[in-house]
Amino acid sequence: MLRYRLDEQGNGIGALAMREETMPQPGPHQILVRVRATSLNRRDTMILDGTYPLTPRAGIVPLSDGAGEVAAIGEGVTRFAVGDRVTGSYFARWIDGRMHAGIVDQLGCTLDGMLGEYALLDEQWAVRLPDHLSWQEAATFTCAGLTAWSALTGAEIPKPGQWVLVIGSGGVALFALQFAKLMGCRVAAVTSRAEKADRLRALGADLVIAATETPEWGMTVREATGGIDLVVETGGPATFAQSLIASALYGRIVLLTVQDKNGGSVEIPGAVYQRSLVTIGRLFVGSRNGLEAMLAAVATHRLRPVIDKVFPFAGAREAYRYFQEGDVFGKVVIEGV
Ligand SMILES: NC(=O)c1ccc[n+]([C@@H]2O[C@H](COP(=O)([O-])OP(=O)(O)OC[C@H]3O[C@@H](n4cnc5c(N)ncnc54)[C@H](OP(=O)(O)O)[C@@H]3O)[C@@H](O)[C@H]2O)c1
Repeated sequence: MLRYRLDEQGNGIGALAMREETMPQPGPHQILVRVRATSLNRRDTMILDGTYPLTPRAGIVPLSDGAGEVAAIGEGVTRFAVGDRVTGSYFARWIDGRMHAGIVDQLGCTLDGMLGEYALLDEQWAVRLPDHLSWQEAATFTCAGLTAWSALTGAEIPKPGQWVLVIGSGGVALFALQFAKLMGCRVAAVTSRAEKADRLRALGADLVIAATETPEWGMTVREATGGIDLVVETGGPATFAQSLIASALYGRIVLLTVQDKNGGSVEIPGAVYQRSLVTIGRLFVGSRNGLEAMLAAVATHRLRPVIDKVFPFAGAREAYRYFQEGDVFGKVVIEGV
């Protein structure tokens, strides 16, 4: 069976190598998943570039996100049967409650991930998928979907009619837009590319700001909305100050990105924050229970993710390259073998 591995970390796309390997057999409490599709997240390019905060295991099979059906089960498996449609959980050992140092293992980083013909997972690391999703759609929720869901539901859930701000057109931002609309919220979206405005409106954004036309968009957003109640802050150093200016007095900012790829860090502008009672929170993706709750909502509303482009399995390097260039609208997907 075919699998990609990262042969040399920190060596960019050249480190990604496809190999023919022997078929793994599921041991006790393990499931063998026939992978039908996978998808990319920003962390996957950071792992490739050697800039991800968690050190990857040498020779790891990359990607946290993937979907497929259970092809075989090991002794003692109770959560799944052959034929079940499943996806993996990002922090495989984090079932519920709070994150701690003992459960930081991640698929596609310290544990073999999904970019292969088959993936061998502990039954505790996987969850069942909604029936309405295609394989390509089902392969997009593990990281970006759950991060957006956690940002919206992890602390105080925004009330119908309140304003949520999303930044950019990547996976997290578009899932946050879609989930916020499910919750009856109004959504403001900021994009660095004016040509994406119509697509953001078509997804339900009530207000779209092109940062190229309005670089100091914080006050514009605040005046148009009366103040943002929850910012899903994916922009980091480039956008944080404007997000703070855009926020309502008692707003909340879920800060998902603290540094940019040039080493710049988020800084709190003291003069703005002095006049503000905004709560700044952080999170790391989410637990398996969060993933199951999100997929239940996805099933109920028959929500479909936004897919930007699909690459064949043999074109995984091209998929990484395309994703790295950054001009995406939604998820970049790699088909199974
Ligand atoms: N803390 C966590 O648990 C967590 C989890 C997941 C992701 N994150 C972070 O959240 C951020 C979003 O992740 P993502 O996977 O959804 O998407 P992403 O691919 O990093 O975001 C892509 C979008 O960001 C905007 N963008 C602006 N300047 C960019 C640039 N120089 N390069 C790339 N994109 C640029 C673009 O939207 P426009 O063209 O519309 O401006 C682009 O479509 C990342 O920084 C990621 O590390 C954090």
